[in-house]
Amino acid sequence: MNETATLWWDAESTSIHYIEQTLLPNEYSIIKCRGIEKLATAIRRLEIRGAPALGVAGAYGVALAAVLADGKDLKSFMEAVNRDSDILRSTRPTAINLAWGIDRVLAAMKPEQTPADAVTRAIVTAEEIAREDTACCHAIGRHGAALLPDSCTVLTHCNAGALACSSWGTALGVIRSAVNAGKQVKVISCETRPLLQGARLTAWELARDGIDVTTITDSTAAHLMRKGAIDAVVVGADRITRDAIFNKIGTYMHAVCAHHHKIPFYVAAPRSTFDPKNSEQDVIIEERGRDEVTIMGSRTYVPEGAHVKNYAFDATPMELVTAVITETGVLRPPIDIHKLLSHQSTT
Ligand code: MRU
Repeated sequence: MNETATLWWDAESTSIHYIEQTLLPNEYSIIKCRGIEKLATAIRRLEIRGAPALGVAGAYGVALAAVLADGKDLKSFMEAVNRDSDILRSTRPTAINLAWGIDRVLAAMKPEQTPADAVTRAIVTAEEIAREDTACCHAIGRHGAALLPDSCTVLTHCNAGALACSSWGTALGVIRSAVNAGKQVKVISCETRPLLQGARLTAWELARDGIDVTTITDSTAAHLMRKGAIDAVVVGADRITRDAIFNKIGTYMHAVCAHHHKIPFYVAAPRSTFDPKNSEQDVIIEERGRDEVTIMGSRTYVPEGAHVKNYAFDATPMELVTAVITETGVLRPPIDIHKLLSHQSTT
């Protein structure tokens, strides 16, 4: 199966390289990025997207900020790095991994006494985060694969695949690992309005790996569940608070339907997605621009006089979740995320 990284640090040019995801599936393009504003725009435009990939992007972003500020005295150097980190942190509010990646690199730099040492520490830590993310995805895959029947049809929403992570994927990591273990897995990929991550990215990734994938409109999911055509739902997460799973808008709808039809609803996410300090009400759900909903191709589908709401994420209450699959194992209700975070990593 394809194990290309989604984004990486290029030591020679001291820059970030990434797959430009808004162009897929029509064009596969690698972008070189050596500017903080450019990286912030890429994150806002979803050229780089998906919670774990945002964590890695935040980490590499701080490393890039450090490289760009090198040569200043330590105080001005750290001021510049903190300013750039704040720019990156403010790009997308819901996925907690972004701030997690940024803060981890900043913390690693702190004890260093010279900018040059801090730059080295930042790059080493960011690369460590990227490697760990891939290892987490493989561990999530192994734990999750054991939950799937030998022959099954799995519904997924948005893209929680290699493109949303360093590589391999969380929800799609579970599917990839199950297929590698010899299970017959068919995937139903919801298109995921309005930006079509399911249609454009999940279907592209799985088809490229030779995994059986069928794209449906989001509103077809309930119909298929009612017909008995779905054996399990597996999705990723952008943030897991004490009481809820935040993921792409539409996830809650699938969770309610799965619960009604007694279909297991699994959430696959690394521990960097957990936010034990907060509960659902504390989290900002990103709202995006009107054009994403109203315009398709060159046509406008909503009259100017109509209001539009474009929430990027929703919250699914924990009681609708059958299990959370993480790198340390499978958590079943009652899900206590404090307990989970105190477990030793098994990756
Ligand atoms: O707006 P996006 O494309 O960044 O949203 C991504 C999702 O909702 C994913 O399901 C989530 O980040 C988990 S990725 C492993």
